[in-house]
Amino acid sequence: MSQNLVLIGFMGVGKGTIARTLVRKSDMFGLDSDDLIESIENKKIKTIFEEDGEEYFRAMERKTARWLSQNVTNTVISTGGGFFKVDELNKIGKVIYLMSSFDGIITRLKAQPNAQEKFNQRPLLKDINKARILFDERAPMYEKKADIIINVENKNINKIINTILEEIK
Ligand code: S3P
Repeated sequence: MSQNLVLIGFMGVGKGTIARTLVRKSDMFGLDSDDLIESIENKKIKTIFEEDGEEYFRAMERKTARWLSQNVTNTVISTGGGFFKVDELNKIGKVIYLMSSFDGIITRLKAQPNAQEKFNQRPLLKDINKARILFDERAPMYEKKADIIINVENKNINKIINTILEEIK
């Protein structure tokens, strides 16, 4: 398989976990847009938001998207929750929207052992009411950008992976 898979979806839906499992179960490599930005900036996303502002971060996402579309193949790419807005999204690869309700995402995050950290490290998840508004605004946009939509709510990871592998055959 030479095409990339681009995982999009709201914060906390499980893009990273699903990408890592897909990498283990296929011959594809894996990258994460936030990790790429953190490594080149040598700062955590939270610090980039605080010191450089959200607009700077969005510009870095667009730069990362251009690079990915020109240089990367056969890779599962997990992305930050707002990455789907970049122009090149569909040029990077097949876009998979990992879909869940907002409450499903919050329940998933709260069930994790390091739940508080998961909330703290995400600037746009700190205020739950604002996050819900952002979710409602973005949900239809994720669907529009997606080649494939996978409902991940209350599904175990093996079921999700098998569904994705079946869909991309
Ligand atoms: C963001 C999601 C975060 C990160 C940044 C902004 C967003 O990534 O890119 O905090 O706009 O939804 P995760 O979706 O991995 O939390």
